[in-house]
Amino acid sequence: MPRILITSALPYINGVKHLGNLVGSMLPADVHARFRRMQGHDVLFVCATDEHGTPTELAARAEGIAPAEFCAKWHLVQKDHCARFLLSFDVFGRSSSPQNHKLTQDFAQTLWEHGFLEQRTTKQVYSPADGRFLPDRYVIGTCPHCGYEAARGDQCENCTRVLDPPDLINPRSAVSGSPDIEIRESKHLFLRQSLFAERIRAWIGGKLSEWPNLVTSIAMKWLDEGLQDRGITRDLEWGVPVNAADWGADPEGKKPDAEGLRGKVFYVWFDAPIEYIGATWEWADTRGAPHAEWERWWRRPEADDVTYVQFMGKDNVPFHTVGFPCTLFGVNEQFNGGKWIAANARPWKFVDRLKGFNWLNYYGGKFSTSAKRGVFMDQALDVAPADVWRWRLIASAPESADSAFTWEDFQTGVNADLANVLGNFVNRITRFCAARFDSVVPPGGAPGKAEEALAEELDKRLRALTQLHEAMEFRKAAAETRAIWVLGNEYLQSAAPWTAIKTDMGAAAVGVRTGLNLCVLFAQISAPFMPETAAAICRAFGLDETHLRWPDRPVSELLATLGHGAQVTPPDVLFRKIEDEDVAAWKARFGGEG
Ligand code: 2FM
Ligand code: ZN
Repeated sequence: MPRILITSALPYINGVKHLGNLVGSMLPADVHARFRRMQGHDVLFVCATDEHGTPTELAARAEGIAPAEFCAKWHLVQKDHCARFLLSFDVFGRSSSPQNHKLTQDFAQTLWEHGFLEQRTTKQVYSPADGRFLPDRYVIGTCPHCGYEAARGDQCENCTRVLDPPDLINPRSAVSGSPDIEIRESKHLFLRQSLFAERIRAWIGGKLSEWPNLVTSIAMKWLDEGLQDRGITRDLEWGVPVNAADWGADPEGKKPDAEGLRGKVFYVWFDAPIEYIGATWEWADTRGAPHAEWERWWRRPEADDVTYVQFMGKDNVPFHTVGFPCTLFGVNEQFNGGKWIAANARPWKFVDRLKGFNWLNYYGGKFSTSAKRGVFMDQALDVAPADVWRWRLIASAPESADSAFTWEDFQTGVNADLANVLGNFVNRITRFCAARFDSVVPPGGAPGKAEEALAEELDKRLRALTQLHEAMEFRKAAAETRAIWVLGNEYLQSAAPWTAIKTDMGAAAVGVRTGLNLCVLFAQISAPFMPETAAAICRAFGLDETHLRWPDRPVSELLATLGHGAQVTPPDVLFRKIEDEDVAAWKARFGGEG
């Protein structure tokens, strides 16, 4: 069985994440990780907080604390929210960790020594009042095209024209509002991405049939527009310092101007993907394991049996299909005489499967952290338990197109799928067993035609469900799971042990035994989506979580898991029904349409 490495896009450190962030990456990654573990794969599931960049510095400043303190605090908050949503990361690291500093600096050094970095002098906006260089979007002023007064220096929000800060009329700092703006020169390192265009195109070309169209079309569009060289350093205080003094010469014998680069840090999008590796190193360090332990997930040839799967929202796709692969090609290979030549005895592993998501909207508009519009991870758990959210979000995930969250759909989905189908099934059969069979799985009777037909249909459906999970088709996997619950309900409806018991004890016993075994099967197939519910169902039969394996045996065997004599303790109501008053209260609290 291949080992499976799974990474979820790293959430930015600032603020509480909303449900759109959750369903666009971390949650489906978790469902997949749980499914693969249940199949028996050796899985490593990696995530971390993405901590660098201007927004972090400004948010820390707004709280009156240093960025390091700000990040330490928010890392713990996010870690707690993820744990409460039952995200089963093997490690939740930090892009500011010493491990990521070391890797980022080593990668940059190798890129320089392989000839892929270039030093350039750029003109940048400096604000004496703020004592800092300002990224383009932190300069605001009047748009020269449409007259909009709060246009940002990179783009006018009103007319969408792309701008340069010097284009703005009456420019001022978005940080302090100061109109005292200067243009100063600064030295920066550029990754010569233009050199990689054909290398990346050939690599993506090999993935076209495997990766979803959403992903390949974004990557190809990016390539077709022409790969631009990209500045990978910034004039900020918080980040991975550029350590150019330690670097050797490039293939032309040039050394970097370490003095000119002093005090700069790497661009957040340079160090963030490297943190997928850094977090794996953090994981090994926490366990006191040697380097070989994390390197065997990332460096070939040891990692040749690893399938690497990445999850992310669509805005992240260019950085993962083009940006990060440029870095990896650049540290693995050199470009010499028009040819790519292996230059690393232990090359870094590339992504094998990439799953991208569209946007989840809140009613007709976007979730907005600044406008406090929509539902955020901490508040969501006041409304419903994690399992209920996990189910509902995955069942309507924005997979093939953007989708909208509404409280009305939430109510309909939770009641129809969970309360009325799964919850009702488990509740009804366990209570009947308790009331009429003394809380013990009954003996007697033999499976007949109805049970055979059920097993045959379930075998088919389980195979389909397994394939959907393997294909990472989340909505369809949820729909298939529900279809299996419905099938069980239909069986029980027609076996009707509550009627049979009056005339045919054997038939009633078979119906009850089959129904109880279906509960265990339902727990297994629900576990990737709803781990707590699955465990609660197992507990009703005295089974521990080791029984939550992926069902890959014939159903006729699976339906004999619980034999005569097993004790049954009906669980508490698994899912509370959502009433119209609940919906009204939530809309009042979180905002609804409009
Ligand atoms: O878009 C985001 O939320 C980024 N923080 C994702 C980073 S993914 C990775 F490359 F680190
Ligand atoms: Zn404009």
